[in-house]
Amino acid sequence: MSEDTGGAARLRGVVKDYGRGAAAVQALRGIDLDIEPGSFTVVRGRSGSGKSTLLNLLGCIDTASAGTVRILGEDTAALDDAQRTRLRATRIGFVFQSFSLVPVLSALENVEYPLQLCEPDARMRRERARAALAAVGLADQAQRRPGELSGGQRQRVAVARALVKQPALVLADEPTANLDSGTGAALIALMRRMQRDSGTTFVLSSHDPQLIADADRCVDLADGCLQHAAGGRA
Ligand SMILES: Nc1ncnc2c1ncn2[C@@H]1O[C@H](COP(=O)(O)OP(=O)(O)OP(=O)(O)O)[C@@H](O)[C@H]1O
Ligand SMILES: [Mg+2]
Repeated sequence: MSEDTGGAARLRGVVKDYGRGAAAVQALRGIDLDIEPGSFTVVRGRSGSGKSTLLNLLGCIDTASAGTVRILGEDTAALDDAQRTRLRATRIGFVFQSFSLVPVLSALENVEYPLQLCEPDARMRRERARAALAAVGLADQAQRRPGELSGGQRQRVAVARALVKQPALVLADEPTANLDSGTGAALIALMRRMQRDSGTTFVLSSHDPQLIADADRCVDLADGCLQHAAGGRA
């Protein structure tokens, strides 16, 4: 695998089609986008505009139909499945729209789970998971299962799980949706602290005015096209 420039992410002419024939949908229609290392970017757009599709490409969860996607210096099209999985598992953290916590595992076990692939020492895995849960203010909820937590607590577990492996790139799909504004603000502060302290790059999709106001940069998607790339905090 070759390291190269290209920032945290560089997309050129990226197209994503779903389905075929009459059912075909073009979710992304020629995206050019650069994400600077250590930046905090929010992707905005109406429902169906392509936000989740874009995050899935940035996270190597899916591949583009056309165009080039460089993530953390790697041309993702040049990687085989195992290399892509490794890149995703070791250097990218996700917070999904639906939390996607494992219901039968405790909060602590959910956070520990992604370390299986990057931390061989079981005691160390447990320690790092505890530290990540403490960082999101849930040290005292470690043994609870997702079904025994509130929506905001579940979202914080999902953030701890994304951050526990100290990824270079964190992708979060509407991380503050369904949270009250106080919980949302605390979550934003937590992510900003992580960005400041470890230089982690964040790309988030959101409609949340609090999150948009706090972003370094906002990117607007409409119907699979990028509208303009304005600075945030304006
Ligand atoms: N797996 C799929 N198969 C077929 N079409 C899909 C698939 N995933 C998304 N789409 C379509 O692609 C387009 C973009 O969807 P996407 O989920 O990226 O939108 P979004 O901006 O994240 O929307 P929301 O705000 O509702 O989450 C939509 O027209 C959607 O119906
Ligand atoms: Mg979405």
